[in-house]
Amino acid sequence: MSHEASRPVSEENAPAGQVPNTEENAGTETTAAATTAGAGTTFGAGATAGADSTAGTEAISGAEYLKKIVSAPVYRVATNTPLENMETLSKRIGNEVLVKREDLQPVHSFKIRGAFNRMSQLTDDERARGVVAASAGNHAQGVALSGTELGVRTVIVMPEVTPSIKIDAVRSFGGEVLLHGANFDEAKAKAMELSEVEGMVWVAPFDDEAVIAGQGTAGLEIFQSRPDVDRVFVQVGGGGLAAGVSVLLKELDPNIQVIGVEPEESACLTHALAAGHPVALDHVSLFAEGVAVKQIGSETFRVCREYLDDVITVSSDEISAAIKDIFDDTRAIAEPAGAVALAGLKRYAATHQVEGETLAHVLSGANVNFHSLRYVSERAEIGEGGEGIFGVSIPEREGAFLEFCKILGHRAVTEFSYRVGQRDGEKPARIFVGVKLKNGEDERKAIAEDLREAGYGVVDLSDDDVAKEHVRYMIGGTPGQHVDETAYSFEFPENPGALLHFLEVLGTRWNITGFHYRSFGMDHGRVLAAFEDVSGDAEFQEHLQQLGYHATDVTDSPAYDFFISAE
Ligand SMILES: Cc1ncc(COP(=O)(O)O)c(C=O)c1O
Repeated sequence: MSHEASRPVSEENAPAGQVPNTEENAGTETTAAATTAGAGTTFGAGATAGADSTAGTEAISGAEYLKKIVSAPVYRVATNTPLENMETLSKRIGNEVLVKREDLQPVHSFKIRGAFNRMSQLTDDERARGVVAASAGNHAQGVALSGTELGVRTVIVMPEVTPSIKIDAVRSFGGEVLLHGANFDEAKAKAMELSEVEGMVWVAPFDDEAVIAGQGTAGLEIFQSRPDVDRVFVQVGGGGLAAGVSVLLKELDPNIQVIGVEPEESACLTHALAAGHPVALDHVSLFAEGVAVKQIGSETFRVCREYLDDVITVSSDEISAAIKDIFDDTRAIAEPAGAVALAGLKRYAATHQVEGETLAHVLSGANVNFHSLRYVSERAEIGEGGEGIFGVSIPEREGAFLEFCKILGHRAVTEFSYRVGQRDGEKPARIFVGVKLKNGEDERKAIAEDLREAGYGVVDLSDDDVAKEHVRYMIGGTPGQHVDETAYSFEFPENPGALLHFLEVLGTRWNITGFHYRSFGMDHGRVLAAFEDVSGDAEFQEHLQQLGYHATDVTDSPAYDFFISAE
């Protein structure tokens, strides 16, 4: 069993230079909207069209949101994007699947809608003072382009470690970039200071009525194109898009089901719904960075709770598979956050046996680092149930390899790693093998069963992250002698100096007995590191916390146990 080994990285405890925060995962944000968390109807009531949700005096009603959305002047800069049929996927899952192409916005995400709507409401005095935002993501680009269109100065504060590709994008849209601080929180504090001291106007990424209304225009376009749509799937980060789209659609037709989708490891709305109010998550996975939000906004929570019919979660592998589906049908490449809604659509249709319906989802963004596609492509196969990964022990004798391959039959082998073990025949050889599957999980189980029946030891590693991210690339196998080691998987920002920092804090004092790192071309990478004689070492635990990278003990994970651990 894995368990959390250290205090996770959060904006409070991260030391300089290592915080992988985006703008939205930084907890609560300043909001121009009502703070009425807890108000509203019971979640899932859904068809509350026309109902006035002003439980708190400041809360605005659905009808008022509708008015704000319909009158939002976003088309001065945003595009009315197409709602396209995904023909291949539609055939495959027996439903008409429609994709809202927000990747075709001038900033390649829907974020321009909310930012522009908010900024178009600035008074002359506010316009003269300029706008400030803290973001290294899509919000930054939306604010920058809106400022250029409106003739308003925009300053975007970003952490000093922000990759140059993101800085260049904001500059290309006319924003001024101010690099400040070691992490998002320090950047945000600077932005707040600019707002207070210089009077610049803070533009929130999601928890703001005007931002929510701007995002709602995407829902309006879906309705205008296909008022007959049965269900609409929307990703949830801080909840601005989901709030805007759900309130709009429910106001226009309460029969349309609107379903929010979150990654399993950044499910801030799911947690808020369980608690009855917004709660801060300790740690969020950064794979789908645009939706990696620690705490849902208060107004977005109020609206989402009232108007969404359901909220579901999806895995990184399912998101990767959805990116592939989008590519196959449209040739567009979604960023991970952009494909979350489709991952949810597929999961929902499969688990609820939905057939013959019209299902729409929002491809919310396409600002993806090209090199990260290596990771996405590897994970997509597994997310589709298209690849099984196994650890198999076979006897170390002549002909054993051939016998093993015969059992796999004519299946395509995607990966095969083997290293000689002891030749005295006492210890079996261990093989890491990937197999292409045509019939998903059933076939996976059948392969494992065939191998077991033939007398081989088999571990199904298809759902084991340690296997997929590290062990498959590690050579050398088990140490020759017993080592008392503990293995951790660390998440850390891929910036120059991060590995050095890692080694400086942990590498000099304790013996590292195993190490694997492979760049996936993302902003954040994973290191697997094993340390000798650290179990029960309080000083080591202290250093782990000081390091500030999110760490998980994976010593007992099946893949580590099977291939790497000492006997
Ligand atoms: C591509 C993409 N999808 C979804 C979201 C989530 O939007 P919201 O915070 O409004 O839920 C974001 C937020 O930046 C994003 O960039």
